[in-house]
Amino acid sequence: MKNERILTGIRPTGFLHLGNYFGATRNFLQLQHQFECFVFVADWHSLTTHPDTSQLKNSVKRVVAENIACGLDPEKVTLYVQSDVPEIAELYLYLNTLAYKGELEKTTTFKEKVRQHPENINAGLLTYPVLQAADIIIHRAAKVPVGKDQEQHLEMARNFAQRFNYRYGGSETILPEPYAFNYDGGDLVKILSLDGNGKMSKSENELNTIFLADDDSLIQKKIMKAKTDAGPVTPNSTKPDYIENLFTLMKLVSSADTVARFEDDYNNSYEGHVVIRYGDLKKQLSADMIRFLQPIREKTNELLANDQYLSKIMQMGKEKARSSAGETIALVRKAMGVQYY
Ligand code: TRP
Repeated sequence: MKNERILTGIRPTGFLHLGNYFGATRNFLQLQHQFECFVFVADWHSLTTHPDTSQLKNSVKRVVAENIACGLDPEKVTLYVQSDVPEIAELYLYLNTLAYKGELEKTTTFKEKVRQHPENINAGLLTYPVLQAADIIIHRAAKVPVGKDQEQHLEMARNFAQRFNYRYGGSETILPEPYAFNYDGGDLVKILSLDGNGKMSKSENELNTIFLADDDSLIQKKIMKAKTDAGPVTPNSTKPDYIENLFTLMKLVSSADTVARFEDDYNNSYEGHVVIRYGDLKKQLSADMIRFLQPIREKTNELLANDQYLSKIMQMGKEKARSSAGETIALVRKAMGVQYY
């Protein structure tokens, strides 16, 4: 076990989909065997964009259940819910005094959300990166596996930690600066939306996104209507990205023989002699995808039906997380002089 702490947060704002699974979840599953890992449900963060809390409880439990069903071991990692750890809110408050209005307003994700929701530009949205910094810094020395869209938040977290140390630490590093964790090899899989328009995403075009919760017939329906074309014009052509995407998915869930067979068909096809049949490819992909997703879906449903077990897992995570967070808050208060007896 390497002596580094890895942390990641998941907002409970939608169901887990193939893009999340192959782009993030699956990689994290490897890390749990090598590092001390923290995984939490970022329910406070979701309030900045999803003020309706009527489904929050279900969504939080689903995130916990889906991650365990995918293979996250709650005995091994610290799996908890953000709002179960009030120490994070306290650190957020302190860090807010070290974050400047100007830099928060300039944050890319903030500007995007302002554009998307001009009717709800709340202060929580503005200070979203500060809360994220608190999430990370609360466990100290965290490395964070993040995508490109989160790198700016991580840079801000480093700045806040640095400012804290400068102002309250004297010559000491009270709060270590967090860094992005890069997976070895760097062969991160990117799954596109089935219509070929951008990344597979939970909020946009649901019919082009395969969720881990989708039942067999829905999986099949979505794959069968994925975008294709009339076939390659010349032999050995470069694949358009929507075709490449189907092959990417196939490589993830089908046997090597199957993939090789369709690759050959593709490479041997040209205008007037198209031997690849996208209908057959999609049928095969559907069958293999269904076989792959079925056990995860069933395990998720089993966990969701066992409320007692889920509660026990969340309580255990809460205790572990609060113990680590409490140590940091003690150091922070001491450094700041917020300690009177
Ligand atoms: N902002 C992250 C996202 O949108 C979620 C998140 C919240 C997070 N706190 C975090 C991720 C801390 C990593 C570390 O996906």
